[in-house]
Amino acid sequence: MSDHVLALDQGTTSTRAIVFDEQGGIVAVAQREHEQIFPRPGWVEHDPIEIWTNTQWVIAAALDEAGLSPRDVAGVGITNQRETAIVWDRRTGHPVANAIVWQDTRTQPLIDRLAAEGGTDRFAERTGLPLATYFSASKIAWILDSVPGARADAEAGHLLFGTPDTWLIWNLTGDTRGGIHVTDVTNASRTLLMDLATLDWSDDLLAVFGIPRSMLPEIVPSSGVIGEVREPPAARGIPIAGILGDQQAATFGQAAFDPGQSKNTYGTGNFLLVNTGTEIVRSTHGLVTTVAYRCGDEPASYALEGSIAVTGSLVQWLRDNLGIISSAPEVARLASTVDDSGGAYFVPAFSGLFAPYWRPDARGALVGLTRYVNKAHIARAAIEAAAFQSRDVIDAIVADTGRELTELRVDGGGSRDDLMMQFQADILGIPVVRPAIIETTALGAAYAAGLATGVWPDRDALRSHWREGRRWEPAMPVEEADRRVRLWRKAVTKSLDWVD
Ligand code: G3P
Repeated sequence: MSDHVLALDQGTTSTRAIVFDEQGGIVAVAQREHEQIFPRPGWVEHDPIEIWTNTQWVIAAALDEAGLSPRDVAGVGITNQRETAIVWDRRTGHPVANAIVWQDTRTQPLIDRLAAEGGTDRFAERTGLPLATYFSASKIAWILDSVPGARADAEAGHLLFGTPDTWLIWNLTGDTRGGIHVTDVTNASRTLLMDLATLDWSDDLLAVFGIPRSMLPEIVPSSGVIGEVREPPAARGIPIAGILGDQQAATFGQAAFDPGQSKNTYGTGNFLLVNTGTEIVRSTHGLVTTVAYRCGDEPASYALEGSIAVTGSLVQWLRDNLGIISSAPEVARLASTVDDSGGAYFVPAFSGLFAPYWRPDARGALVGLTRYVNKAHIARAAIEAAAFQSRDVIDAIVADTGRELTELRVDGGGSRDDLMMQFQADILGIPVVRPAIIETTALGAAYAAGLATGVWPDRDALRSHWREGRRWEPAMPVEEADRRVRLWRKAVTKSLDWVD
């Protein structure tokens, strides 16, 4: 029987295919970056065709490296950058515009208008989310309002919307006229259009944003067979058996299946999720409520999430916009040449501030500078910003749930940085634990697909795969950690103060 699972991880900066064996071990990896398009300040776009081309390439390359044919693969699990909105014409398969990426803030005027009518939290009860440019709804509305002819075509039933999971599945399962049009509950819960309790699109919200229901995909469970791959030929016939938004996939890959279990992923942003079981917990401290996963016909599991827009992408900014490092990994080397940030604090509010502040008007701030501060201190302040932002989110989680966290499971590329992980443990005052496999996002998608296709019998089998890789205990005196958190929060007030 086929005992391998293919995971496809369509992320913000790259697309990867990873082949896993039945122990959850990595057999082969292929990756391709795609262009980040910044047409104007605050705008961030991707080319959906480039992403689809890269997807076909990485799938073929990973299967080739693993020496596997489609028969050897039980299923494919898809995970993706969430919220990013793609609208295409079902008649031609062509996107009507570039994808509007989750970080994009162009729809702030629409968000402001809707907030003025009923407050930022007017849809929070229904969707678990505040009104913000981050989520898909205002991005779809922007495309319908700004692309000539789009609204008429949408109303005539010609246009389809999808987050990257939906776009890829439509292409993977179709010929030139396209295939299956679905998304899963976790991705749907990030659109601002789904009712968290019914797990269905809300007609009221569709009316508010002026989005025809015919554009929307069918919402399916996160684990379950939905169809077969047709393209690329290297994967033809493999069942598509799992879909999860990338942060929910990482939670699944960390086997955080029990209420109270959490994870923090260090990617372009940071996303901290805590499982709340089948209970929908409402935040009063700036977190969002989201679907964690739904396996087959089981009731959905929910999570509280602290979304932080900019952490790893601050390192890219140091590389691309300031040029003080030539590659992202160099930041850790540079930062380790100094003992601390020299009193500098860096609040990377490039897309405003997300959780727990939700202040779109916030702007980046680098404060505490003296003549002493050099580029190594700035690199260190950039790394420390991820830890401070995570502390803000964890304080909100503790306030919302009334439960202290006893340790933090971490993953994602940034969790390779030992210096940052030690600093994170210091600033949180709890141990930070990295699993042996940090590719938890892809692993989570593979788990969802493998559960649906019989590679693994149940979630207990997945729990038994989890292995500790490394652990950091807090080493900084509590008073010193508190002093730095105080200064960080002072720096945040500067970033909130900025707009005139
Ligand atoms: O909500 C945005 C998130 O899904 C993006 O994750 O890892 O692609 O930056 P990542």
